[in-house]
Amino acid sequence: MEDSLSAAAIARDLGTRFMGQKIIYYPMVTSTMEVARQEAQRGVVEGTVLITDEQTAGRGRMRRVWLSPRGNIALSVVLRPDISYLPFLVMIASLAVIQSIAVITGLKPQIKWPNDILVNGKKVCGILIENSIRAKLVDYSIIGIGINVNDKFSQFPEILPFATSLSQELGMDVSRLSVIRQLLIEAEKLYLTLPGQAVYQEWRDNLATLGKRVQVKWNKSEYEGIAESVDADGALLLRHADGTATKFIAGDVTLRE
Ligand code: BTN
Repeated sequence: MEDSLSAAAIARDLGTRFMGQKIIYYPMVTSTMEVARQEAQRGVVEGTVLITDEQTAGRGRMRRVWLSPRGNIALSVVLRPDISYLPFLVMIASLAVIQSIAVITGLKPQIKWPNDILVNGKKVCGILIENSIRAKLVDYSIIGIGINVNDKFSQFPEILPFATSLSQELGMDVSRLSVIRQLLIEAEKLYLTLPGQAVYQEWRDNLATLGKRVQVKWNKSEYEGIAESVDADGALLLRHADGTATKFIAGDVTLRE
């Protein structure tokens, strides 16, 4: 049976300083990114979480649709970081997701550059970050996280070759509440290490992509090579067969091996 979410159940004795200290829950919403933006513009406190059971217009990267049926996690967190922290947000979100999944389920997720989370090679989570910057100051940043938790993919069997869920991997349902609470705890812990290189180093160490032969799709072009390194801004360096290299700050990566 599906575990029920509520703001009170998520926040109860969470023990964080600010992450998840205010939670706004919707049974159904267009997109948590949309309501997070409205709340951020109204001045909501840093660390506020917008969470729903179901999105009717979930958004993915590069203007894609994010399928968001019941049983999964769809949430957005409003932050007000220093501008120098922006490159680290995706690293923090990715690390918080893999750590929380590992703690709660024992699975061993990996990060596929730039911000997909894989379990056994299939996508289990996507991350979307939207920033509002005015005069070199961050007004707000929104981290959106979608985790396939108890999805059986009965509505969308066509994505089964590429996507998975925690329950699919474990053969049993997983408590969304436990994953969400752990996620908020891990995210705050990582965020509070900034400024510093610890987040970057840990992110780099958990990338499934490095050292692998990959294809990068960016701006309607495709590039092949070895994913050689990532820098502290999150950019990927792709080494081509002819020895030249291309740096990407965004793109879609397919692992070739
Ligand atoms: C991607 O992999 O393309 C990113 C997907 C991000 C999905 C999450 S679900 C919660 C939040 N609300 C949205 O509409 N999108 C993000």
